[in-house]
Amino acid sequence: MCGIVGYAGNREALPSIIKALHKLEYRGYDSAGVAILGTELNIFKACGRVSSLENNVPTFNGKIGIGHTRWATHGEPSQINAHPHTDCSRRFAVVHNGVISNYQQLKEELIAEGHRFISDTDTEVIPHLIEKYYGGDLEAAVIKTLNILTGSYAIAVIAQTENKMVVAKNGSPLVIGLGSKENIIASDIPPLLDYTNRVICLDDGELGIITQEAVKIYKNGRLIDKPVSIVDWNTEDVQKGGYEHFMLKEIHEQPKVIRQALLNYNSAAEPIIGSDFMGNKAGKGLLILACGTSYHAGLVAKYVIEDLLDVPVRVELASEVNHRERIIPVANAIAITQSGETADVLISMKKLIDAGCSTLAITNVKGSSAARLANQTLYMQAGPELSVAATKSFIAQLIEMYKLILMQPALSEPLKTQLVSELKLMPGYAQWVLDHEDQIRDCANHISPYSNVFYIGRGINYPIALEGALKIKEISYIHAEGYAAGEIKHGPFSLLQNDTPVVAIVSKDFTYEAMITNIKEIKSRRAPVIAVAQEDDHYIEQLADRVIRVPNMHNLFSPIVNAITLQLLAYYTAKYRGCPIDFPRNLAKSVTVE
Ligand code: AGP
Repeated sequence: MCGIVGYAGNREALPSIIKALHKLEYRGYDSAGVAILGTELNIFKACGRVSSLENNVPTFNGKIGIGHTRWATHGEPSQINAHPHTDCSRRFAVVHNGVISNYQQLKEELIAEGHRFISDTDTEVIPHLIEKYYGGDLEAAVIKTLNILTGSYAIAVIAQTENKMVVAKNGSPLVIGLGSKENIIASDIPPLLDYTNRVICLDDGELGIITQEAVKIYKNGRLIDKPVSIVDWNTEDVQKGGYEHFMLKEIHEQPKVIRQALLNYNSAAEPIIGSDFMGNKAGKGLLILACGTSYHAGLVAKYVIEDLLDVPVRVELASEVNHRERIIPVANAIAITQSGETADVLISMKKLIDAGCSTLAITNVKGSSAARLANQTLYMQAGPELSVAATKSFIAQLIEMYKLILMQPALSEPLKTQLVSELKLMPGYAQWVLDHEDQIRDCANHISPYSNVFYIGRGINYPIALEGALKIKEISYIHAEGYAAGEIKHGPFSLLQNDTPVVAIVSKDFTYEAMITNIKEIKSRRAPVIAVAQEDDHYIEQLADRVIRVPNMHNLFSPIVNAITLQLLAYYTAKYRGCPIDFPRNLAKSVTVE
């Protein structure tokens, strides 16, 4: 899941490309490179962050260029394996996001024909194939090349002799920004916002010819008209706004995100999906599929749907759905995906759609592949999320699920009224957590020296224990496990010692007594306990070593304040450990390869 970018316009391409790569760094940051077309084609690549490319690249002049920031799939991070890749004659330069699955066989054929390869990447076959097929027409050579590639790709190609850029897509995302006297392509929207909010989303099998003056899109060799969507994000949204990290900024945006999502919310309105979609009539139930943090949002939704609507819900990891021999019959499916580009989710959506399922996508990105694939789409209104660790998007996913469930006609009016009025208090409760950040910072200081941490929760907060563990793993490099509290005595107990802190989510509901028992069992194994407990829970102080308070509220919505609390705990723990919070090693924001 690399980030590719291309510029054709009236400004110098190099500074524009570098600026855009900085805005795509969350997609991969182990190496980067540019190719600039001026009087000649100049290529420069560097290991590490975009800043090391920026600090070392010579001043190449030219108004057309491409760039790349890498998340290595084939070939370790190195200057040689960094993109752009070129051919033997160095006439063509290519940047690529995705995986060419038949590259080995193509590489062997090209080597047999005399081509010399210098990298270990799958991508390098592309410029060599273009060189092989080039007869004076770049797009013809690119089309011939694409016809023999298998796998996923978004590519941008420039050539020594041609004053244009050719782009194409299959599986990996590619958007085109229409500026005035300049056009820019990228793997995602943020870099486009410096130039325009008019965007074209390329679909699989489409090819684009980009010049300073025009953008032409072809499908099967024929020029086609593409809808232009107006993006309602602006450059401020993709800047840190005075915060040290995007993650902290995005955590602090959550009260506003919730308030925005609840604006004009009318639980009496017709829900986008109803009981038919949920299939309780057919007794088949509902499937929710997702990955990572979005999967945890799906688990919370399962508890709420089953508790309030009595509809059986299966929540599955999308990467597992893809490798099942056969699809277990379900009524329909909800795909939850912040980016809308997660390959595992897209592949399983296609499988379910082929199996006759209707799909609802809950996503944060307008025009994303998931939105275009699904029968219906519910947009989260979280705004662009740049930190690799998902925070506000998780809360926005929960809010959209709560809103959807509370619109269901199966709910009694008195219950609906009570829950909707509680839901509308959420922005205040989220702000309460942010206003009491100090207590969390202290606990983070306490946790930061440890190398193993457990998270436990019960019922609707079991998924939040999973999410808390994922957050601290992602950004602080502490090994953490989330467990259903009742489960740890069935094995993980053996790991408990005085250097394995346990973060326990203790809600004042029907799980309270059982959680207290679990904490006593953990204490008897001398493991330190940090309890996340409601402000009026005074008993817990007698048991836990430390207590992080959250506001009293209806338990159904407690995942929201508990999740924000654990996001901050992970953030400050990573800060105390001096970790690169927005760009944790080996990760990327949107996982566009299987
Ligand atoms: C979460 O912090 C991670 N970035 C990751 O687990 C993420 O949630 C997962 O890759 C799913 O992404 P999506 O929501 O964009 O599909």
